Amino acid sequence: MAILPIIKAPDPRLRRVCTPVEEFDNKLRALMDDMLETMYAAPGVGLAAPQIGITSRIIVMDVSNDEGKRSPLKIINPKILESSDTIIKQEEGCLSFPEQYIAVERAETVRVLFRDENNIPQEIKAEGLSSVCIQHEIDHLDGLLFVDRISQIKKNMIMRKLKKNKRTYKK
Ligand code: NI
Repeated sequence: MAILPIIKAPDPRLRRVCTPVEEFDNKLRALMDDMLETMYAAPGVGLAAPQIGITSRIIVMDVSNDEGKRSPLKIINPKILESSDTIIKQEEGCLSFPEQYIAVERAETVRVLFRDENNIPQEIKAEGLSSVCIQHEIDHLDGLLFVDRISQIKKNMIMRKLKKNKRTYKK
């Protein structure tokens, strides 16, 4: 297992639309273990493949928020089957946007179909933090970022700040 570098915004690699996974092999399973390790180390509750430079429809998540009892979720080729009409507005963070927390509106519950790492179809009904997180991560797979879901003024402010940070601490 390995901790991978996380791509920070702004970066064109975060804007790519990811392609579905077709090979469910040991390489995929090892990658997902690395993604989980990277996410836990950050620490974060979700990580999508484009954040580590991989353009495939892969997400890892763990919203249990309890180090003693982890419940990792490995999600491949997710598809939202149903979104509730009720909306919640919750503060979100993103590992590609260090120290930026923004209130974003999303469906309160979603039903998602996906494949697990063994290519077995799975379905979950997510609500609360889990719903917010899965929608945020699925957005990443389509090249969408949480700043795309807030006002342009706020978005410009955040992007300016990030650009400045990038110049100051070049990595
Ligand atoms: Ni994110």
